[in-house]
Amino acid sequence: MKFSNFKIHTYKGYVQNNFLIEADFIRNSLGRDIHDLKLTAVTHCHPDHQGAAVLLRDKYKIPAAAPRDMDLWYSGIGGRLQHLSDTLQSQFMAKQMKQNPKSESLFYKRLLHPDYKLDDRSPLPFFSDWEAVSAPGHTSHNIMFYNKKNGLLYIADTMISSRGKFLPPVPVLFPSAMKETLLKIKILKPEMILFAHSDTPIIPYSDEMIDETIRRINSKDSLFIRFFYLLSKFTGEYRRNKEHR
Ligand SMILES: [Fe+2]
Repeated sequence: MKFSNFKIHTYKGYVQNNFLIEADFIRNSLGRDIHDLKLTAVTHCHPDHQGAAVLLRDKYKIPAAAPRDMDLWYSGIGGRLQHLSDTLQSQFMAKQMKQNPKSESLFYKRLLHPDYKLDDRSPLPFFSDWEAVSAPGHTSHNIMFYNKKNGLLYIADTMISSRGKFLPPVPVLFPSAMKETLLKIKILKPEMILFAHSDTPIIPYSDEMIDETIRRINSKDSLFIRFFYLLSKFTGEYRRNKEHR
């Protein structure tokens, strides 16, 4: 997809869609060496979103930008357990999706120590036309990335799309915060939504996709889904931010 000053490449990751923003300077400079990658931008700590950033920083010194409090999620004993649980869940999902015939270990260092810590409305380092938008619900620290000029919103795990349906992610640990995040998307009114988990990575925005997702958050979850929720509540950050309703 081509925009005025960058291109977006989408490709299938292990369990998620990956987005690579290619800016003019990459095209016009030294070629396409891995070191031309200026930054990884991480929305939350889950293995399918953070794992590659740790590797790219350790191996190639590519800096990472991430939510300010992200590392708290996997800190402490509860955090360690949560990291183990999330990594095994991702491994299970990858197997279900049969995306990769040979099973690969998804284990990665659980703490990123981001080079750039992002708050709500922080511009992305090197890419100031993109800004972080706080998006709690899935975890307490999720963010999305918004490009106002081109009407693009990368929502990561705020919504999932599958076979034309729009669904909340698993888990939604903070349902009230998640609904507020979804309503925030309605106010931003982007032209296009970039999905991490969808058959089609980029879909034109509509208010209906938000309404449908909120309806599903309000309805009762299946036993299978509730089992996965149980596996997502080990971290101390869940208890600290728990919604009392
Ligand atoms: Fe996630």
